[in-house]
Amino acid sequence: MAQLGFCTLLVFSGLLHHIKSHIKKEDNPEGKERPNFIIILADDIGWGDLWLNRPDNSTPTPWLDSLMLKGKRFTDFHSPASTCSPSRASILTGRHGLRNGVTHNFAVGSVGGLPLNETTFAQLLHDEGYYTAMIGKWHLGHNGSYSPVHRVMTWAALTNQALTFPAVLPVYIVSIVLIRSMRDATPKWDYLCLKMRRLLSNPWTHGALKTDMQQRQSSRFSQPGGGSAKRTTWEGGHRVPTVVSWPKKIKHNSSSDALLSGLDIFPTVLSLAGVKPPSDRRYDGIDITDVLLNDSETGHESLMHPNSGAAGQYGDLQTVRLKHHKAFYITGGSVACDGESGPQQHHDPPLIFDLSQDEAEETPLDPESKEFRSVLKQVEREREALLWDIATDRVSAADYTVIPSAEPCCEPQNPVCRCHRLK
Ligand SMILES: *[C@@H]1O[C@H](CO)[C@@H](O)[C@H](O)[C@H]1NC(C)=O
Ligand SMILES: *[C@@H]1O[C@H](CO)[C@@H](O)[C@H](O)[C@H]1NC(C)=O
Ligand SMILES: *[C@@H]1O[C@H](CO)[C@@H](O)[C@H](O)[C@H]1NC(C)=O
Ligand SMILES: *[C@@H]1O[C@H](CO)[C@@H](O)[C@H](O)[C@H]1NC(C)=O
Repeated sequence: MAQLGFCTLLVFSGLLHHIKSHIKKEDNPEGKERPNFIIILADDIGWGDLWLNRPDNSTPTPWLDSLMLKGKRFTDFHSPASTCSPSRASILTGRHGLRNGVTHNFAVGSVGGLPLNETTFAQLLHDEGYYTAMIGKWHLGHNGSYSPVHRVMTWAALTNQALTFPAVLPVYIVSIVLIRSMRDATPKWDYLCLKMRRLLSNPWTHGALKTDMQQRQSSRFSQPGGGSAKRTTWEGGHRVPTVVSWPKKIKHNSSSDALLSGLDIFPTVLSLAGVKPPSDRRYDGIDITDVLLNDSETGHESLMHPNSGAAGQYGDLQTVRLKHHKAFYITGGSVACDGESGPQQHHDPPLIFDLSQDEAEETPLDPESKEFRSVLKQVEREREALLWDIATDRVSAADYTVIPSAEPCCEPQNPVCRCHRLK
């Protein structure tokens, strides 16, 4: 039995993916190995929150660290957005929010969700005979057809909020039982999508969990002004710890510095399953099978980070990563510890940082320098090309209308329909 796992922890808006596969040769008509997948997303865990990534942190995170050693971990992996709904929509569709329509969070009373003609990899795998399921936080619409139950998940247990310990435990146990029974009952492939918060700090060890959480408060990867980087396009807003595990195929405790994104999960999962996505639209993710299995270091040449509410239009692509450089056309709006937010600032020409020298994005390049001018030219070219590609693509619009009657339920003590902010 082989297992394949993606594991992503996103900063503040965070995600954690873990994909596992169980290969049964006798069930594949063409005799081709088709893995199963488990993806685990954890909210609000940042790159710098792991002791493994920042050994100068005062508090160890032993469980998360040991998880990260279980496969290939990535040092330059990015959430497709810096808040929840758009990150999830991009992971499921392989497309930026400007294409799939999900550019900011849905509310508890939202009538809409991820546009119904956007296709998720779960739908595509389901059509190929995979069993698909999702547990925990969905946050892509719950009204009628937008619920995951109607989006070709074989079954789903969802909330709009991340689940906290210990509320996650019963859901976790029921899920394991269901997954096992599903697998035993059927010789088919099953896809499973788990989205839970803080699950991976050993759920039985509350002490470790607490220290992981406390430590999170004190660690920041980078953000000028010292405020939270959630919603911003500073590295602290989207660079996330990620691991892919697949025993016997991917080496334990290996790593890659390739520039990758959660957008890549869609094409990679489909490629590993031998499934073709619809060709009537364009995608932003790349197939990273070669990085996973062949030690290739070829990631994205450039990667756009969408505005996620801190500054500028939702979803607009005003931060451009180009190899080790990063250009900002807009900054500001980050909420600081005292609750205040900085002013929105437009930059023309953009601020450009060299992340290989300046991980904390503190000192922009001198606009008069040769390096700046050469990078700027390429940044402009890449951004214009992508915006043109989007302008000529099939793009969807999400319905963000909010009406109170669309609220499913609202009980602070009920983990399944909690709609109050977590403390
Ligand atoms: C969403 O909810 C509203 C009101 O609750 C309803 O009228 C509408 O038909 C629902 N939309 C879908 C797609 O089910
Ligand atoms: C992981 O690999 C690094 C070297 O790449 C090594 O220093 C470290 O001891 C390894 N950790 C474990 C737990 O195997
Ligand atoms: C991995 O490398 C082998 C040998 O070079 C090649 O045949 C294979 O196609 C590569 N796999 C991928 C996914 O690129
Ligand atoms: C979804 O439907 C809308 C409205 O008809 C359309 O504009 C958009 O291009 C469609 N999206 C896709 C991916 O086909």
